Amino acid sequence: MRNITKRFGPVIANDKCWLDIYRGEILALLGENGSGKTTLMNMLSGIYFPDEGQIFIDDKEVVISSPKDAFSFGIGMIHQHFKLVDVFTATENIILGLPGKLDKAEARKKIVDICEKYGFEVDPDQKIYDMTVSQKQTVEIVKVLYRGADILILDEPTAVLTPQETDKLFAVLRNMRDDGKAVVIITHKMHEVESLSDRVAILRKGQFVGDMITAKTNAQEMTNMMVGRPVELNIKRTEPVEPKPRLIIENLTIKDVEGINKLAGVSFTANSGEILGIAGISGCGQKELLEAVAGLQKIEAGSIKYIEDDETEEELIGKDPVKIKEMGVALSFVPEDRLGMGLVGNMDISDNMMLRSYAKGRSLFTDRKAPDKLAHHVVDSLEVATPGIETPVRKLSGGNVQKVLVGREIANAPTVLMTAYATRGLDINSSYMIYDLITKEKERGAAVIYVGEDLDVLVELCDRILVLCGGKVSGIVDGPSTNKRAVGAMMTKLGGDSNE
Ligand SMILES: Nc1ncnc2c1ncn2[C@@H]1O[C@H](COP(=O)(O)OP(=O)(O)OP(=O)(O)O)[C@@H](O)[C@H]1O
Ligand SMILES: [Mg+2]
Repeated sequence: MRNITKRFGPVIANDKCWLDIYRGEILALLGENGSGKTTLMNMLSGIYFPDEGQIFIDDKEVVISSPKDAFSFGIGMIHQHFKLVDVFTATENIILGLPGKLDKAEARKKIVDICEKYGFEVDPDQKIYDMTVSQKQTVEIVKVLYRGADILILDEPTAVLTPQETDKLFAVLRNMRDDGKAVVIITHKMHEVESLSDRVAILRKGQFVGDMITAKTNAQEMTNMMVGRPVELNIKRTEPVEPKPRLIIENLTIKDVEGINKLAGVSFTANSGEILGIAGISGCGQKELLEAVAGLQKIEAGSIKYIEDDETEEELIGKDPVKIKEMGVALSFVPEDRLGMGLVGNMDISDNMMLRSYAKGRSLFTDRKAPDKLAHHVVDSLEVATPGIETPVRKLSGGNVQKVLVGREIANAPTVLMTAYATRGLDINSSYMIYDLITKEKERGAAVIYVGEDLDVLVELCDRILVLCGGKVSGIVDGPSTNKRAVGAMMTKLGGDSNE
């Protein structure tokens, strides 16, 4: 790609950008949120057309003006939002839209061959609605391989995967590289760049700023290059501030619709002025736990007591979610689909701020000053890349959408701040900004409950860590004295090596 420029109105997403992609190599594309990674790759996959610049494939200049063109050049891209038809099987989705009359049995066989060759685990006859996120992603990858892709682009593929699923994906990507394919992966996770890629290319503000052999660089150097100045990658864990019980949870039990326990007899205390981490493999009850406190779950047994400043206790179970929110309990749950929850894509940043305070009884159209002020505050404090607070959220890059979502909850100065996957999709520098903000909330006296996937971060950020395993408390450990291995062990077996 040579001198590629792409503008969206006043925004220059890519600015005379160039990039080389080689066969038989895994390239990591790195850059801050909004630096133009997705846009650049979308011009290879035929979604956008460059305003200026040229694209060459094997030294021949090409024009890619549609996804169909991209396929004809062997380029396939896996987007963050899958485009599969739920009621169709894997095979039906994979052959969907292909020209000519198709022999399903033959297609099925070709799919099985591709899976065997690269090590995918796909049931060709399974319907999409029965699949996990990871299985759906696999279908998307097999779909582009089926169409003959030998340049494969993946946009933050691991944002929605568990560590085990990520390992599996990386194994097939390595097989594809060894088979001579070109693989480009966009990711914000430095340890993934380091463990998977052969080379790393860095974008800053829409421009290519350099590339390096991965084995010859490190996270610090890559981050500095991304941001354009030295960045400190350290979480400063301050001492808990006069910790006092704020939430006391006893014997909490929650069942799903089939009557199976999602949480069983969970007890713990969350203190003000402290960050309580929650660790566990995905689906082990974190979501239900936070939703229970927020009043969004039907509870089978147990109690959730909120302790007021004057030490009076209030039972939260049975209270309306709006009432609980008014008491100062904030929940920011960053879902796999960021636009799915809590933000309205077509509304601007300021209006999205208002959505949050709407529940306080203010009319959507009266007081514009407060949300405007909040929007400015969030944009400034988290360095949201946007032309202004009037910009519709859907026009922001993925990571910037997320900053708006998390910033909004934090800015409300809650007494209990519950946050899940707050840094999903955020660049490394922004992630550290969020850790700082969360620590500031703790210092202000909030009881913070932090659900996260990255064990390194949990161990560095949290004062205590509650480990869940299959809906039960496996143990509660001290952040400063535990390590990631011990927490990992407790996540998979009850009891683990708890130091309590
Ligand atoms: N359809 C669009 N309309 C207007 N602006 C857009 C559009 N798509 C992208 N942009 C803008 O272009 C810039 C680059 O966005 P892009 O999505 O390529 O960033 P990114 O590097 O992929 O970021 P992230 O890591 O957050 O996914 C951003 O400022 C974004 O707001
Ligand atoms: Mg992107």
